[in-house]
Parts: sequence; C-alpha cells; structure tokens
Amino acid sequence: MQMQSLSVGFSSPFSAEVCAGLSHPEQKQLPSKYLYDAVGSALFEVICALPEYGLTRAEERLLRQHARDVVDQLPRPVVVAELGSGTGRKTRLLLEALARWQSTWYHPIEISPTALALCRRELRDINSISIVGFEREYLDGLREAAARRAKGEHLLVLFLGSTIGNFDGSMAADFLRDLRSILLPGDSLLLGTDMLKPEAVLIPAYDDSLGVTAAFNRNLLARINRELKADFDLQEFEHRAVFNPESKSVEMHLKSRIRQTVTIPDAATSFCFEAEETIWTESSHKYSQEELRSLAEHAGFSPKAQWIEAYWGFAENLWIAE
Ligand code: TRP
Repeated sequence: MQMQSLSVGFSSPFSAEVCAGLSHPEQKQLPSKYLYDAVGSALFEVICALPEYGLTRAEERLLRQHARDVVDQLPRPVVVAELGSGTGRKTRLLLEALARWQSTWYHPIEISPTALALCRRELRDINSISIVGFEREYLDGLREAAARRAKGEHLLVLFLGSTIGNFDGSMAADFLRDLRSILLPGDSLLLGTDMLKPEAVLIPAYDDSLGVTAAFNRNLLARINRELKADFDLQEFEHRAVFNPESKSVEMHLKSRIRQTVTIPDAATSFCFEAEETIWTESSHKYSQEELRSLAEHAGFSPKAQWIEAYWGFAENLWIAE
C-alpha cells in the first residue's frame, strides 16, 4: 500500500525510490541496488580485479580449493539457485564440481538483465548444467526456483561475495529468516562473508588509488542523470569511504563539495545540498564468528561446514535448514 502511494506521480519505481531517499531529513540516501546498471556492473568487474580489493579473489581461491568438499557435504540430488549471479565466474567452480555427480538445474536470480545475460554466456558451456534464470528480486526469484524443483530434490542457495553484508543492520537477519522460510528442512545455503579486519586494509578496498570505486559510486548519480534527466554535477560530488566501528561496516557516501541544488524534472522536484552534506549509498558489514553463529541460529539454520581464506579474511559458510 505504501509503495503504491509512494509511486503516484513518479514515472518509475526508480524515480520514486530516488526521491524518497533524497527526502530523508537526517541522512540523504540512495538504494544501492541501483548501482548495478550496465556501466556499474562493468565497473564492479574492474573493482574485483583491483589489488586493494582482495575479497573476490579470496573467495575465488576458496572455491577453487574447496568446491569438491562443498559438494561432498550436500544432500543430493540438488538444484542450485543463486542470488545475484554476477558474471558467474565463481559459480563455475561449484557447478563443475557438481556436474561430475549429476546433471543440475541452475537458476541465477538477478534484477540486472545485463548481469543475467553475462552469467548465461559465461556458464552455458558446462556439460550437464541447464540454466533457467529469473530477472526478479532475490526472494521472488527464489520462490520461483523453489516451486520448480521435483520431489526429492534439495535446493542449494548460493549467496556469495558478502552481499549479505550490504543489507543494513537488522535487515540482514530478517532477510535470512525470510530466505529460510522459502526452504525445506535439509535444503542448504552457501553464504560468503567478509570477516572483520583492520581499518587500514578495509578503507583502501573501498577507496582505491585509481578511483574505480569512486567512479562506481558516482555512476549512481550519472545514472539518475541519464534515466531521470537530473542535473547532478558529478565533479561536485566526492566519493567517501569511512569505517563505522559501532556497526562494523564500511560506509560509502557521496559528499557534496559545495552548497548546491539538483533538479530531477522526471519527478518534478529539486533537492538542496549543503556543503559537506553526504548521500549514503551503501554499507558493507564485516563479520565475526560469533555473529555468524547467531545469525544462523536466528534464521533457523545449523552451520554444517566453514572454509576460511586466512590471507584476506573471508569465510564460506555452509548452513543446513533445520
Ligand atoms: N558486496 C560488495 C562488498 O560489500 C559490494 C561492493 C564492493 C561495493 N565495492 C563496493 C558497493 C563499492 C559499493 C561501493 O564488498
């Protein structure tokens, strides 16, 4: 109901959400899911190759080393659903290990059609894997994938890249509980989580020297200009990454250099920015072992196995639905 009234007068859910976010009285914000259009997805690929951003390579190393161990722990036959497939490079390692045992359905779930197409192209050559993707929000897509499985098949949900850490505060716990409610006992979740590490390592990972992450973040404003005909002056917004020790998260912001007004004609509104005022675009939470245990328990999973990449500090967690 609320979404409906919010959308009245806006040309799209995108413009409604942008305006709602920029209207927040204390802290302007923008929804991070909109970071990943074609340009944003391409920039994110570059981020994953940056020396400062060790997360993706750490997870790839883990999966390269342990894909078979993961598969060995799974009840079979299994159907695989992945939340936010990205380009599918990490997924390939798991699917190839699975394909040695059985032919497998693979359901990538993505709101970005570009990412979905990339992932299909990347994985279509693996023998015994049939790909049916869903261009949907995570849990809607997961419901579809769950509805398609045959009797006796178990679902394995992949949620990699520490994307769970991009959910704000208690939303992560709620999301995992909602996810669990779509599963049946014995189904499993493979959850990638970036672990807490020194700020001196974290900040450069989200504010690299080449400025790729800055471009990735500012592309959100460029996208609003492109799609909603707004007039953000990109030179007047600066990328900022700060570590919040209380929430154990790196927070990404776009800081206005000057006092300025931005107009979004598509939504028939303008927004005023004070000098130094920021728009919060994304947070990336970092995990401890205790927190992972309590998240699993709260959501109705029992932790079955964990693989750790100690050099960067990344964990792959296999949880079974109780
Ligand atoms: N899931 C990734 C992470 O938290 C997403 C990410 C990486 C990101 N770099 C970013 C999001 C920069 C916004 C800005 O690490």
